[in-house]
Amino acid sequence: MSANTIEINRQMDKFAGHHSVWVFGYGSLIYKADFPYLQRRPASIAGWSRRFWQGSHDHRGTPAAPGRVVTIIPEAGAICHGMAYLITPAVFEHLDYREKNGYLRVAVEMAFDDADAATAGAADAAEGVVYVAREDNEAFLGEASEEEIARHIARSAGPSGPNSDYLTHLAIALRELGKHDAHVFTIEQYLLELIASNT
Ligand code: SIN
Repeated sequence: MSANTIEINRQMDKFAGHHSVWVFGYGSLIYKADFPYLQRRPASIAGWSRRFWQGSHDHRGTPAAPGRVVTIIPEAGAICHGMAYLITPAVFEHLDYREKNGYLRVAVEMAFDDADAATAGAADAAEGVVYVAREDNEAFLGEASEEEIARHIARSAGPSGPNSDYLTHLAIALRELGKHDAHVFTIEQYLLELIASNT
């Protein structure tokens, strides 16, 4: 699959004709909403695990020295927590550009985690879109130990800044959501140890 997914994503017509679409974010889309949205709700998707297995050539690394960012991997029984945004279809132009380094729009069922809104009459689930970097994309790096991933992140940087900021912001955002992610928090712990041992 091409390294640039913009054209493939433009052809995704599952929600054609809809006035608004839910998008589920599990990585930088949780903490960096640089686009207009109609609603924002904590949510989760079942059957997926968040993993730092995707290479980043354009945000947290370079083509010569890619950083590591998250994608989601199918895993029976897993739950991935994140943030859902209700957007107008025009916003996909911005999101497709931002996620162009290997991420494909995939239709997904999301459950909203804000029980208060659901009690007040809001829907408690919706079908929408999630951006997934599958293992057949050119930037995919795949599995490595959490310690190796932390070392990789510690030495990487790209046009959007240090790779370590991506990890730290994601970990903070997950804590703010009250959600534990053993993979993310273990890598964060290794990163903190690396920083401490270098000072
Ligand atoms: C996402 O946040 O949902 C996709 C991955 C990323 O942009 O970090």
